[in-house]
Amino acid sequence: MNAAIRAVTRSAIYNGLEVKGIYRGYKGLITGEIAPFKSNNVSNIIQQGGTILKTARCDEFREPEGRRVAFETMQREQIDALVVIGGDGSLTGARIFAQEYNVPIVGLPGTIDNDLYGTDTTIGYDTALNTIMEAVDKIRDTATSHDRLFFIEVMGRDAGFLALNGAIAVGAEAAIIPEISTEVDQLGELFNEGFRQTKNSSIVIVAESEITGGAIGMAERVKREYPEYDVRVTILGHIQRGGSPSAYDRILASRMGAAAIDAFKDDQRNVMIGIQNDTIVYVPFSKAIKLEKHINREVLNTLKILSV
Ligand code: F6P
Repeated sequence: MNAAIRAVTRSAIYNGLEVKGIYRGYKGLITGEIAPFKSNNVSNIIQQGGTILKTARCDEFREPEGRRVAFETMQREQIDALVVIGGDGSLTGARIFAQEYNVPIVGLPGTIDNDLYGTDTTIGYDTALNTIMEAVDKIRDTATSHDRLFFIEVMGRDAGFLALNGAIAVGAEAAIIPEISTEVDQLGELFNEGFRQTKNSSIVIVAESEITGGAIGMAERVKREYPEYDVRVTILGHIQRGGSPSAYDRILASRMGAAAIDAFKDDQRNVMIGIQNDTIVYVPFSKAIKLEKHINREVLNTLKILSV
């Protein structure tokens, strides 16, 4: 996220625009926690995780009154346009605000979940994926030494991108993801196909979600139905949301941040910047938020093949 803030700031300044940093997202727009940003405000941040602007969940902005106050702040601060960096919730807020007050807004897809339609990847996803890979590589040492079956839960809200691609990256036996859970009993399938015939230890990556039941739910079921297995659970949690960003994420955020300013110059508004086949695209908010991004079945099949 910091790489995106840096790119938006520098690119705007390069184009002769003035920049203000709004702290804590929509909350700062309501409370007026805003500061002028010069080039040096974003120095030395490209390598830092988190966000120098801080962030907050903001219930007030969900209400018309909160958005009215936010618009008044914009007028008082002489802010003509907004760049919003965030996931589904942030972009939904942006869409409503833009419609109500005719504010030009460009969105940047910032979420580790990678669940926004119209972009191949989102800012933060690759870093989270690398964190998962490093963590699970370490867990594998115990799995192998003790002949254990590990269920490792990763984030993703209701999307299985981190789980599926994380599973491929660590050489896991399977990924349990919400997109498939409604079609088949993934755990049953896993055991019925005898995934442990050739192996003494196994790693299964489970996407957090009510649909999958998470790693704890899965482990409880296995203990009940297959008591012979030595099962363990690890929930990776918020380590997935922090740390220095990967090179891929820094480059993506830099390109997207610069593209946000280009979008305003192109008279674009109410669009999210996306990347498709290494090319920057503009995705209307309505599509980015409403349309479902599907998981790649070919990747799922590859995982199956490679776990024989
Ligand atoms: O949407 C990003 C995300 O990291 C999800 O993967 C996760 O479910 C959620 O945020 C965690 O949010 P919080 O930090 O508020 O618990």
